[in-house]
Amino acid sequence: MARIIGGVAVSHTPTIGFAYDTKKQNDPAWAPIFASFEPVREWFKANQPDAIVYIFNDHVTSFFFDHYSSFVLGIDKEYKVADEGGGARELPAVPGNPALAQHIGASLMTDEFDMSFFQDKPLDHGFFSPMSVLLERKDEQWPTTIVPLQVGVLQFPIPTARRCYKLGQALRRAIESYPEDIKVAVVSTGGLSHQVHGERAGFNNPQWDQDFLDIITRDPEQLAGMTHAEYAELGGLEGAEIIMWLIMRGALSANVKKVHSSFYLPSMTGIGTLVLENQSAEVPGLVNERHRTRMAIQLQGADKLTGTYPFTHAGSLKAYRLNKYLHRMIVPAHREKFLADPEGSFAEAGLTEEEKNLVRRRDWRGLIHYGVIFFMLEKLGATVGTSNLHIYAAMRGESLEDFMKTRNTQVNYSVAGNQATKEVAWDTKK
Ligand code: FE2
Repeated sequence: MARIIGGVAVSHTPTIGFAYDTKKQNDPAWAPIFASFEPVREWFKANQPDAIVYIFNDHVTSFFFDHYSSFVLGIDKEYKVADEGGGARELPAVPGNPALAQHIGASLMTDEFDMSFFQDKPLDHGFFSPMSVLLERKDEQWPTTIVPLQVGVLQFPIPTARRCYKLGQALRRAIESYPEDIKVAVVSTGGLSHQVHGERAGFNNPQWDQDFLDIITRDPEQLAGMTHAEYAELGGLEGAEIIMWLIMRGALSANVKKVHSSFYLPSMTGIGTLVLENQSAEVPGLVNERHRTRMAIQLQGADKLTGTYPFTHAGSLKAYRLNKYLHRMIVPAHREKFLADPEGSFAEAGLTEEEKNLVRRRDWRGLIHYGVIFFMLEKLGATVGTSNLHIYAAMRGESLEDFMKTRNTQVNYSVAGNQATKEVAWDTKK
């Protein structure tokens, strides 16, 4: 079974990444930052987790307000550095841990946390700023795998502190029920006191920062009961992102061993570091077994339904490139290129020969077996002038006529809009 070895919490100000990239280790103004991170770095080196569940918030870089989610778990194979306006930092992509991420995602959903899931997104300083000083890289390789958890703390309403704490408790159940014998660390980033907007910009409260570091160690329940306004009053509005630390704390035992804590205020944001070692008792095997059984219940038996393929994270990851290619049929320029020069369009998207063949042959059934979701099929159909009913019949291996006989009315349709009206040869009314 997987074991949580400890929890780490650190600030994630861009200053940390800047100081690292510009090699300010010996500059008196910056040296304390490195000094406060050094023991954390040593802890990681000594304990070598196989995976880190890494909690952070994006700063409206990869997660914009067109769709803003509260708890977003990364299920990808790797995570690149985001460009935040001046070019991306020169750091290698971090390897993900899709198997652990999928288990955690399924476990949290079972515990009624309605998560969002992401892949194919670069991560900003909320993630990479502390990463670059926390973990030592050998030959530019990161020493562990990461499951990122992005928390939407910027557009109110945001999750309560208590919800974060409860998510941490559910995260503990998720990790401890993972069947592989691996060591996992939980890292939260964010804070400490700061405000970067409005007339109160520059607000700090070092006393509250020190108190917070102490209270989260020995009395997290108290912090879970605080409101966002109380956090803002004590630590600045942006400082309220500190509620993310409660996710890490919730994943640990009630009693923890504090092995390191530090605080430094160089400029706008209090920089804190905290390392807590877990003192958890081993969970009896039958308890984890029961939890995994509960996780499996929702889809139990679906595998026995013939011709039925639930679209899962594993399938989504495997067929991501092809789903993405077909999804882009909603962009006029993409579908025009595809219609005019399919081979050029395939090559640009980097499709494999197998993927190209599935699209070339309009192999509707094969596409489903490969992991493409049906709703991409109907987009491709709309683009090439094939009706939904043709696709349904083809997936069943029947002629359109035979399939039509199984319907109450003999109607045909597709999702093609105004651009397809002159081309729909299958529309019997024309
Ligand atoms: Fe932040």
